[in-house]
Formats: sequence, structure tokens, C-alpha cells
Amino acid sequence: MKYSTKTGTLSELRTDVLIASRKTAESTARALGSRELLTAAITDFKDKPGEVLLVNLPAKSGVRRLLIAGGTDGTLSETDFRKALRTTAERLKTLPAKNALWALTLARVTGKDAYWKASTALTALSTALYAFDLHKSKPAETPATTITRVDFHADGRSKSQISRAVRHGQAAKSGLDWARDLGNQPPNICDPGFLLKESRKLAKDPAVTVSALDEKRMTELGMGAFLSVSRGSDKPGKMIIIQYRGAKKAKDAPIVLVGKGITFDTGGISLKPGAAMDEMKFDMCGAASVLGATRAVIEARLPINLVTIVAAAENMPSGRATRPGDIVSTHSGKTVEILNTDAEGRLVLCDALSYAAERFKPKVIIDVATLTGAIIVALGAQASGLFSSDDALAQDLLAAGEFSGDRAWRMPVWEEYQPSLKSPFADVANIGTGGAGSVLAACFLARFVEKQRWAHLDVAGTAFQGGTTKGATGRPVSLLFRYLVDQAGG
Ligand code: BES
Ligand code: MN
Ligand code: ZN
Repeated sequence: MKYSTKTGTLSELRTDVLIASRKTAESTARALGSRELLTAAITDFKDKPGEVLLVNLPAKSGVRRLLIAGGTDGTLSETDFRKALRTTAERLKTLPAKNALWALTLARVTGKDAYWKASTALTALSTALYAFDLHKSKPAETPATTITRVDFHADGRSKSQISRAVRHGQAAKSGLDWARDLGNQPPNICDPGFLLKESRKLAKDPAVTVSALDEKRMTELGMGAFLSVSRGSDKPGKMIIIQYRGAKKAKDAPIVLVGKGITFDTGGISLKPGAAMDEMKFDMCGAASVLGATRAVIEARLPINLVTIVAAAENMPSGRATRPGDIVSTHSGKTVEILNTDAEGRLVLCDALSYAAERFKPKVIIDVATLTGAIIVALGAQASGLFSSDDALAQDLLAAGEFSGDRAWRMPVWEEYQPSLKSPFADVANIGTGGAGSVLAACFLARFVEKQRWAHLDVAGTAFQGGTTKGATGRPVSLLFRYLVDQAGG
């Protein structure tokens, strides 16, 4: 998919589909001599957000079809604008057309500028037009979509904002699609080695280096928590490290993203029940999202230094697997009593976090993980759980989520929760008591980033959909990318 910006009089431009409000569609049809045709077609149309109308124009006209987005003439709320975009993008996906021209530039959304409107439209299009059919043996009779280019119409006033949104939106789309592809791959293909191989693709760019700690190196570094998870698997774990140097000053402290990359989570010896266990292939979606955000940052050439760490391992039961009751020592020196081998995300992350803090002296560390089923109970599929004891960082991430429509909701990481993680035998246990499972998981992580600005996003409810519409969503790539654009100065 290619996005670009176009200026000029709509009725003089050529396009397979013009996406417009009712009034814009009417004036364009009039200029093209198709006024009566449109009047007849539009009689029963409800001009409301969420309603769309497709009108085919005569074959000779430069504009071949009008796709009218209901309710986009007046001033809309943010929710209605998103709804109008979603339904329009979904209708566009099904049309036998190659390109489209987006002309909702004049729609007004309370408190939002042209950059936001175009960014929001780009995300809606990228989300709707995505398809994953890599493993179908035959191509589908009707392809998921034939659209390969969308142009964004701009006028003199909105041009610079819209072309910036297109530039960012194109980069974000690459990251979002990649994150979804990685998440959707089956676990026999997407293993730690595959994530490393995919990550290495980023090193094509001269500003990027990709390396990895193997199990031998992790043993030397004392990463006993990470290794306790990968022990049970025949597939060796990898700690993947991607460094992007985009800041003017090479020495600028980086922002570090850390992703949970459990390529399959059986639970280990604390085996999960069988129902829907296939969905645990999505347990690397945190990793996929930090990789996606990294790719977007690289493609947008944001002027920041970014380090991305993927803690990639498979959690399997076997004769070598970790037992409940085992005690391991971590990279930080702290010891952990593993009471439940299914609480493995925090084990791979704690070593990644303390390593990141020590090795890179970052400005900020943000980890992303499908960490707990409990966050689905708390927030469902609408919001990711945000945990941070740093108010300013939390506010920045919440704002990035609001802006991008990839929302998060803040949860506590109060000191008062910590005693429930006490172990009689080690420094800390990997599970606690008394409910608040997502908070306790975050509190566990907090012990490994004590002197560090840090935030944690629990995306177990947002990174993928289960059931019949199963699939990776790419969340929170949009939130992360928006945060990083803001950090880069907008
Ligand atoms: N990967 C799971 C969390 C999860 C559950 C993600 C459902 C997506 C959907 C995680 O490793 C896990 O198993 N967590 C346990 C923690 C418990 C043992 C304290 C959980 O949530 O049950
Ligand atoms: Mn688990
Ligand atoms: Zn897991």
C-alpha cells in the first residue's frame, strides 16, 4: 500500500474511488455532469457516521466511483469521526478498485487539526486493509483487497500537515503490518530464532545494528530467570538487541523498548488447560509491537536514539523444564522462587529490564507484554493496562494512546502491594496472593528497575483477538509510535 498527498480540484483528478462527504460528493458530481445520477442514488441515504453509500459514475468520468462517508459534513466528535472512517475503510476494502482519493479533509473534528485527521484516517485504512494469507495453499477467489494506493487530498492550508501525516502514517503502517504478521505466524515457524532472523532485516539500514545474546552469554551474565523459562524447550532462547541511532548527538541516552517474546506459552510444568491454547502463539505480541514501533521509527527517520530488546523464548514442559519450587538467581543478583511456571513473562522480562538499565543507561524504559489474563478481566479489549510510578511518563503514554486511538488505562503499582510477593526461601516469589494479578506482575517487574524511569504496558487484552475473528491487532504499535514521535519533537 502506498499513501501520498494530492492537491487540485477534485472533479479534475482521476481516481477509482473518491471518498467524500455528502456535500463534497454532490459538488463533484455536479462538476462532472452526474448530478441527477447522484440525486437518484442518494434518496434513501442516512447521512450519519457509520453509514456509507457507493455511487458508480459513468465510465468516461475521471472519478469512477463516489464513496460517501455519512455524517462528515458538519462538526463531528472524535468517536463519530473514527466510526465514519472505520466503515468507509471497510467498504473500500471490498471494492474492485486499485486506488482511492481521500477527500474528508474538510470534515471538522472538535479540537483536532488536519494532521490528526489524516493520521487517524491512515491508521483506519491500514487496519482495515490488512490481510494475512501467507499459509493458504491457493489464493482466495476474491482477494482481501485490490487497493494498492490511497491519495490524501489537501488544500493550500492543510498541505504541510497532511503530507507529514502521510509520511508518518506510511511508516506506522509498515510497523503495524509487520507486528500483525509476526503475531499471526504459527508457533512452529515463529520461534526465538525466527524473531532474530526477522529482526536482522532492520539492519539493512546503516543507522541500525542488530545483535543477540545466546544462552551461553546469558548464563555468563547471570540471567537465571530468563534461562529458567527457555530450559524446557528444544529451541534456544534469544535476547535480541536492536540499536537505532537517529539523534543528532550520538551519545544521547536512548529510549529502550522491551518486548515479551514468548513464542508459545504452554504454561510449562504448571501446564495450561487445553481450550484455546493455540492462542498462546500470540504470547510474543509484546515483542512484535516493539519491533513494529522500531521499524516505524526507522522508516520515519525520527531523530532519537532507540534501543529495542526482545526477550524471546518458548515456555514448554519437559524433563529439563523448571519445576514449581525451583529457585533461580537473576541478572540483578536477586533470587526468585518460581511458584508457578506459567508466570514466565515476568521471568524473561526481569532479566531484560535490569540488563537494559545497566547496559544502556536509558532515559526511559517501556516494556510491552501479554503478561496477565487478569488484565483482560479488568479492561477487556478496549484499553491496555499502563503501570508506572512516574507520573509524567504515564501522562505522556496515556496522551499518545488518546491521540492515536490506541488507548491505555492507568493501574496502580503501589508499594503496598509488594508484601504479597514475599517468599520464605528467596528474595521474591514469581506469583503473589490476594487478587490484583496484573498489579502484582507489574510490582514484580518494578523490583528490577528501581532507579530507572520505567513504564509497563500489559497488552494481553488488546494485542490480539480470540475466537472467530482471531488475529493479531498490532496494538500498541500506534501508541508507541505516537509517543516516540512526540519525544522526537512532533
Ligand atoms: N501469557 C499469559 C497471559 C495471557 C493470558 C495472555 C491470556 C493472553 C491471554 C501469561 O504468561 C500467564 O500465563 N499468566 C498467568 C499468571 C498467573 C500464573 C499468575 C495468568 O494470567 O493466568
Ligand atoms: Mn504463562
Ligand atoms: Zn505468557
